[in-house]
Amino acid sequence: ASQQQAVATALERHRTRPGALLPILHEVQDALGYVPEGAVAPIAAALNISRADVHGTISFYHEFRTSPPGRHVLRLCGAEACQSMGARALERHARQRLGLAPGQRDSRDRRFTLEPVYCLGNCALSPALLLDGELYGRVTPQRFDELVDGCDV
Ligand code: FES
Repeated sequence: ASQQQAVATALERHRTRPGALLPILHEVQDALGYVPEGAVAPIAAALNISRADVHGTISFYHEFRTSPPGRHVLRLCGAEACQSMGARALERHARQRLGLAPGQRDSRDRRFTLEPVYCLGNCALSPALLLDGELYGRVTPQRFDELVDGCDV
């Protein structure tokens, strides 16, 4: 979807309901992978709020991105069951493998994005990983490397 289209669709669907801002931002991000700067003004105008309000909400909720994600998106589960099965160590490994500093989500070459997620519903097979929408369980560091190596550029 084009940026304009995505924003128009999200506004049409949600603008009249109370608390419309969050569902609108979610829908735009689902369609485009992020919330572009150009979406802020039309959303603010449609909801009759200030641009600063829209910016404030985007930066308050960590799940919103303001730039496109990398070509492959890795979501590593950080919830309890996975933590007890080594999710923290796996995350350290993943950051090292992808060359990500603490807090950094996107690799420099924009090939990978690493995002935390809280429970993928795969607790019996923890630690769990979602790679480009596909779920993997019992992910060891070695398995992680294999998966990453198997991604195209
Ligand atoms: Fe990780 Fe449920 S805690 S999948």
